[in-house]
Amino acid sequence: MNGAPASPPVPVVVVGAGGMGRSWMHVVLDSDCARLVGVADVLPGAAERALAEAVEDPRRRGGIVVGTEGTDVALASGAEAIIDVTIPEAHHAVTAAALGAGLAVLGEKPCAATLAEAVSLAGHAEASGRLFMVSQSRRYNPHLHEARRLADELGGAGIVSTRFSKAPRFGGFRDAMRHPLIVDMAIHAFDAARVLLEGTPSTVRAISHNPSWSWYAGDAAATVHITYSTGAVHVFTGSWCSPGQETSWNGDWFLSCDGGTVSWDGETPPRAVSADGTAVDGAPPQADARWELAGSLADFCHALRGGPVPDGEVRRNVWTQAIVEAAVRSADEDRTVTLAEVLDEALARARELPGPESVQEALSRWEDGADGLRAG
Ligand SMILES: NC(=O)c1ccc[n+]([C@@H]2O[C@H](COP(=O)([O-])OP(=O)(O)OC[C@H]3O[C@@H](n4cnc5c(N)ncnc54)[C@H](O)[C@@H]3O)[C@@H](O)[C@H]2O)c1
Repeated sequence: MNGAPASPPVPVVVVGAGGMGRSWMHVVLDSDCARLVGVADVLPGAAERALAEAVEDPRRRGGIVVGTEGTDVALASGAEAIIDVTIPEAHHAVTAAALGAGLAVLGEKPCAATLAEAVSLAGHAEASGRLFMVSQSRRYNPHLHEARRLADELGGAGIVSTRFSKAPRFGGFRDAMRHPLIVDMAIHAFDAARVLLEGTPSTVRAISHNPSWSWYAGDAAATVHITYSTGAVHVFTGSWCSPGQETSWNGDWFLSCDGGTVSWDGETPPRAVSADGTAVDGAPPQADARWELAGSLADFCHALRGGPVPDGEVRRNVWTQAIVEAAVRSADEDRTVTLAEVLDEALARARELPGPESVQEALSRWEDGADGLRAG
């Protein structure tokens, strides 16, 4: 025997056995920090089917509880946490119930269907004293953090620009959304830019449109300009109906700094060029780096075993959803929208949502919409 004993894996229930829920089940099954003890889906039989696909040997799925209600399955299986991979409209009810039952929650993005519900969930987490982390899996990309490191060596990024071009034919709900690009895709870039920039986002100006050949009902193209409290700016220009020279799913990135520029194609290590023309290639990721969902799960489990509060803790994550809400309003109303405006409104609406008195008390202590988030 040598060293301290390893922390016991966190027993978790995956709630929502759709496309992404199935991915999460595999990540948990492959993980050394979590253990799958249950699967829940509101559609009768869906959890059983997904589990049978993920764990083919019936003897290995014997101890895994299945059901239609996440918190019930979690309590029956002795889970310590749930992973909420339901549709965004169900996030508030599913996550609030779990937190109220004393469970920790790792929730898929977006935090909730509306900013008011997201702020409300921050209140639920505060009242319960349990960890609620929102998983923004694209944050768990070692190249992104290497880009930040290179930018810091050049004095820190003051302008971050993202160009995103893709042409996916999804079918389904995205084709019918009013703002498919901003709400369903650009949220990842808004969140990643927060890794690259210091400060908190403060204003948003967005212009969106739908190209004549677009197969989406809503606006599939947009430019979004976001200012930060530090004076830094993130500019996102993207389209979801631009075939030909497509970017990576992360997009193409340029970080402008006092001492030079960092570029990143979203897939390979970033590269810095200093003001005197010297080029520096970013370091490749470590062999044991955890990517995407696996990285998110590891951070969550580590936090539950005494590690640091993760970046995706709800109060830290809500800023990203506030950018999305401000961008949609800015595009619709053709004006600059402050995050203070959308966060104050969200707090007022969150206070009106039904919930335990302890949640109302927690939210009543927030001085304004941003106040409670700063505590994170
Ligand atoms: N990080 C990423 O890159 C990424 C990619 C895709 C989806 N997502 C997110 O993952 C989540 C799920 O997306 P999806 O594509 O798997 O959707 P999906 O529609 O395929 O699956 C959702 C599942 O949740 C179930 N469900 C709905 N309400 C429920 C409830 N109250 N209790 C239990 N189960 C319930 C549905 O029956 C369905 O099986 C969404 O929040 C989505 O935004 C993230």
